[in-house]
Amino acid sequence: MDEAKEEIKARLAVEDVVGQYIELRRAGRTLKGRSPWGVDKTPSFMVSPEKGIWHDFSANRGGDIFTFVMEVEGISFREALEKLASQAGVELKKYNGGDAQVAKKKARMREALELATKYYQVALTKNRPVCEYVFYKRNMNKATVKEFRIGYSPKTGAALKEFLTKRGYSKEELDGAGLLNRFGNDMFKGRMMVPFIDTNGQVIGYTARVLDKTEPKYLNTSDTILFNKSRYIFGLYQAKEAIRRSGFVVIVEGNMDVISSHQAGVKQTVATSGTAMTEQHLKILSRLTSDVRLAYDGDDAGVNATERAIGLASNLGINLSVISDYHGAKDPDELIQQDPKLWQDAVTNCRPAMDWILDKYEEKLDLMSAQGKKEYSDVAMKMINSIVDSVVKKHYEQVVAKRLDVTVEDLVAKKVEKTSIKRLKQVKTKAQNANKIKMLEDALVSIMLFGGEAGEGINLEVPEDETKLEELELVYEAKYKDMSPSELKNDVKEMMRVYKKEVSAQKIEELTAELLKYEDDEEKSKEILREIQKLQKG
Ligand code: UTP
Ligand code: MN
Repeated sequence: MDEAKEEIKARLAVEDVVGQYIELRRAGRTLKGRSPWGVDKTPSFMVSPEKGIWHDFSANRGGDIFTFVMEVEGISFREALEKLASQAGVELKKYNGGDAQVAKKKARMREALELATKYYQVALTKNRPVCEYVFYKRNMNKATVKEFRIGYSPKTGAALKEFLTKRGYSKEELDGAGLLNRFGNDMFKGRMMVPFIDTNGQVIGYTARVLDKTEPKYLNTSDTILFNKSRYIFGLYQAKEAIRRSGFVVIVEGNMDVISSHQAGVKQTVATSGTAMTEQHLKILSRLTSDVRLAYDGDDAGVNATERAIGLASNLGINLSVISDYHGAKDPDELIQQDPKLWQDAVTNCRPAMDWILDKYEEKLDLMSAQGKKEYSDVAMKMINSIVDSVVKKHYEQVVAKRLDVTVEDLVAKKVEKTSIKRLKQVKTKAQNANKIKMLEDALVSIMLFGGEAGEGINLEVPEDETKLEELELVYEAKYKDMSPSELKNDVKEMMRVYKKEVSAQKIEELTAELLKYEDDEEKSKEILREIQKLQKG
């Protein structure tokens, strides 16, 4: 696969690949932007077109176009390779790698699904009652039907199967694509077909609705090697552009709500198809925008889903709000059928999710009673503790304290009592330590390699990976090149001191864990203790 990798690298500019996800601005020989892992206040993400690499100073990671796409999309190397190959116009088939067969299988399945979609589209135009359902009952116009590739699966038991078998697709291929039921006949019969389209515009599955009141209302493709429901976002392909342009995304519950919303001119709408929102869903969206608006039902399930989303969102630096102004309609689709303008206004008039949820609890609980106050402060503090921004956090502490008629100190005292929080913190510190060490190591090695005299005293291992070396050169150029030799020397001295301290702290921590393992072995325990003491003396 190395050959294919090199070919793709030669054809794609790193700034173009990265530029699809974040806005880059030229700064001399490099380009700068905001970290897609999003906690930086100033641009800390750098790209070097000459070297074909990137480095993120806030998250301390970096690499080439493949690692970037892997990390930003949360996909495997193989998937990143396929994605970039298609962008570069490189045919992976020519390069025989271990996974070439999987790629071939996927390509065959995609072809079959493309044909199936066309077949369903034609079947829709030929069936008058179905057209009536789609165009009159659901109120979709022609452009919408075309954009979302709406179709119809005929009632005949194996019509699609026969159609595709004649065109050379095997039973395994059709089954793998999710087109067959357990009897080997057509999976979808007599349903309105709504394709799941991936971000490259290719069909990877379907959600299929009955036209009457039979159950189940929707039948969805289950996970296949092409379709993964905990990652798939319905409507993203059609919404991407609008999300970028407007700077926000709307998440609704139903796929039909997405379609109606697009038709009503709110084109930044998507749905998590038939599942609860996962962290992966939010991560994918957080790369496009930090303004996420939820349009969930106002019932208990909606409140719970929103609460869950608040927890997930704050880790990702997402600003979550809630769209709730439904004028009595059951869902966005129904509201749009009343009047598209009502939905457009509801989207504009969204409220911060915290405000919305605090109101919901205030309605539900008796805030005059001790028990009500306790429950209210429990949920409120749980959410408040997940807020990263200290100003926002303070704001809500004050809001909650006021509503409960207590002081902010009383509230804060309450959260300190919680033992579970302490544990969490410990774990986090350890991970942060490891990251700090890695960051210092990168900085020191970069100075050792490229900093001339200033790096002479440093004696660390040189990485062998070429991309890593280029990344370190970028780190040096961005951070240290313009420093005077004496300044740099001082910096190195300080960094070495902290680095040694951190490394020995980490070792001590590891040894302490060892100590617990060898509790019963006196010899071994003494040995470990001696080592710890040696490290503590420095
Ligand atoms: P709803 O029952 O609210 O459907 O389920 P809806 O979107 O309003 O559909 P219409 O307007 O009656 O056509 C919301 C979502 O839950 C999933 C679907 O993804 C649906 O969009 N669902 C619902 C299923 O997967 N299967 C079902 O049988 C029902
Ligand atoms: Mn509906």
